Amino acid sequence: MLDIKITRTTAPKAKPADESKLGFGKKFSDHMFLMDYDRQNGWHDPRVVPYANFTLDPACVVFHYAQEIFEGLKAYRTADNKIQLFRPECNGARMQDSCDRLCMPKIPVEDFVQACKTLVEVDKDWVPHTDGASLYLRPFIIATDVGLGVHASPTYTFCIIAAPSGAYYAEGINPVRIYVEDEYIRAAPGLTGFAKCGGNYAASIKAGEMAEELGYAQVLWLDGVERKYVEEVGSMNIFFKIDGKVYTAACVGTVLPGVTRRSCIELCKDWGYEVVEGKLAIADIMKASKEGKLEEVFGTGTAAVISPVKELKWENEVAHISDGKIGPLTQKLYDTMTGIQWGKIADTKGWIVPVCNG
Ligand code: COI
Repeated sequence: MLDIKITRTTAPKAKPADESKLGFGKKFSDHMFLMDYDRQNGWHDPRVVPYANFTLDPACVVFHYAQEIFEGLKAYRTADNKIQLFRPECNGARMQDSCDRLCMPKIPVEDFVQACKTLVEVDKDWVPHTDGASLYLRPFIIATDVGLGVHASPTYTFCIIAAPSGAYYAEGINPVRIYVEDEYIRAAPGLTGFAKCGGNYAASIKAGEMAEELGYAQVLWLDGVERKYVEEVGSMNIFFKIDGKVYTAACVGTVLPGVTRRSCIELCKDWGYEVVEGKLAIADIMKASKEGKLEEVFGTGTAAVISPVKELKWENEVAHISDGKIGPLTQKLYDTMTGIQWGKIADTKGWIVPVCNG
């Protein structure tokens, strides 16, 4: 159990006036959580302090060699004014896997969860009241050693910031258009695809920008070896419903093991769907579309929640999905996930972690 020291701000910021215009990750709450690491003391000095700039030496490892990892989870306000988290222990466990891959010291899962809960409780007034809006938590670890040699830093800072946020996409729950990227890749066996590290996202920006210029919300990445099998989308995992079965890429090292992804797989199985986690060729998806068997496509992610896809563009082919509407399974997953997260549906799965009264 961490002994977290809390220093409250003496200059609270104004809360967003219009919660319907929050956007994603643009405004930040009054406080942040910090904890430091060095080899002598391990993780130490856990504290909640007023949100403020960092002062870091320009030669810190994180700036040059991107030794950095992050997580994303949300705090929700229920109708009876309770504040709760969704499966934070899954984020804590995934952060440990990212730590392992990036040679960073792990934080015990229970400490990770306690840190998230403490920040949310201190900043509970920042958890939005509006339906569909939540307090997005961004935990991250940066390497703080000073020096330009390429090595694992002996010192780190763990920080959690919190952003009252609405929908990730400008489209909201409306279906998005996705560009299947056939030149650039996001991951390859042996690299860092399964880890949530900033470097993965830095390498994805060029393709994402090009897709946006063409009017697509994001890119769908193909595997890095054959550029044949679908893996994930810019900020979410992706599912395909074809001829009654649900398909998604397996988490075998190149795909991010999303918390929303695994929750949706569990729900689909509960509802009697066959869920196939494995290799699915983009050519077969396009063929299914031509045969009228591509029933639904949707992305899953903490930020994106459940995001229906209405169009896939691959080379010279275009698949139009569900007549541009939200398919029934996509809608049911959206309603169930958001229902559990906002406390409108009973949590029979033990996914909800209460934080405090609002
Ligand atoms: C999340 O869904 O929490 C993510 O971290 C995706 C992010 C890159 C916006």
